[in-house]
Amino acid sequence: QKFDVCILGATGLVGKTIMEILEERDFPINKLYPLASARSAGEIIEFNGENIEVIDADTFDFSLAQIGFFSAGGSTSAKFAPIAGEAGCVVIDNTSEFRYEDDIPLVVPEVNPSALADYRNRNIIANPNCSTIQMMVALKPIQDAVGIDRINVCTYQSVSGGGKSAMDELAKQTADLLSGKPVETKNFSRQIAFNVIPQIDVFLDNGYTKEEMKMVWETNKILGDNSIRVNPTAVRVPVFFGHAEALHIETKSPISAEEAKELLKQAPGVVVCENDEDFPTQISDASGKDDTYVGRIREDISHNNGLNMWIVADNVRKGAATNSVQIAELLIKEHL
Ligand code: A2P
Repeated sequence: QKFDVCILGATGLVGKTIMEILEERDFPINKLYPLASARSAGEIIEFNGENIEVIDADTFDFSLAQIGFFSAGGSTSAKFAPIAGEAGCVVIDNTSEFRYEDDIPLVVPEVNPSALADYRNRNIIANPNCSTIQMMVALKPIQDAVGIDRINVCTYQSVSGGGKSAMDELAKQTADLLSGKPVETKNFSRQIAFNVIPQIDVFLDNGYTKEEMKMVWETNKILGDNSIRVNPTAVRVPVFFGHAEALHIETKSPISAEEAKELLKQAPGVVVCENDEDFPTQISDASGKDDTYVGRIREDISHNNGLNMWIVADNVRKGAATNSVQIAELLIKEHL
């Protein structure tokens, strides 16, 4: 069986990567509809060796597609996802628009596949935040084995999380600075080249940023455990692809670094970098891959039930596009 699929945001970074991954994984597609705004309607996109014209989403009849991948920003999803869902197109949404609604499943296929069945409520499935996804993939085996009480996490997030224009900004600022020109800032609240910025998304009333609170809300929802306390600091770094995270967790009962390594070696979607000096980085390991790389696994010298690790994954792939395609694969296998 093959499916008609639409991609909303087909001209964007995540939309393009979704198309690459659909090709790579030989996803069973009958017809592909690339959708964007009126700005890029008529542009030609190549998919599986075919040239396809980009369609203005405002003019598209969503009943033509059975599956829709949406990554064109929150307000665009707010507008089109309910229309598509009503028309019988199951939406896999990459924005945060629907993630916190009780009747919308929030799914990482390796972690909570059974949540997917609730897609029938509204024909909408939410893809979690990029930083949450990789953290869930690495922590699910630990949660299952010993239970997690608390997570302290600092992120080191690449600019591709902000889309194409954020990447262009890092490139241009870097070139400008190296040739003695003044820098212009647009996507970030500070210069991003040769700098790190402890702000991703807007500040909320509690002093955390929205990106940080996404990690709190989504961890509780995905693991189905509101008792897990999460304390995040999300930081943008001048890296193009891949997010790293320093995780410091407190478990309900103790677990040794060796036990954690053994558990993680069995976990789907995880690559364990066992020796301390083999720690993963964005450039040398994670960028362009679909797995979450876990290194620096060690016991916390300051806490009896503490465990530390350093995790890295490609935010555009596993953090967005790959996870969405895996959700679609699961949907097809179990429900369509
Ligand atoms: P467009 O090319 O028409 O602007 P990125 O995250 O890389 O910036 O990409 C954003 C994606 O979302 C692009 O494909 C963009 O299409 C699409 N998009 C943005 N706003 C809208 C909208 N109002 N309607 C449809 N697509 C939109």
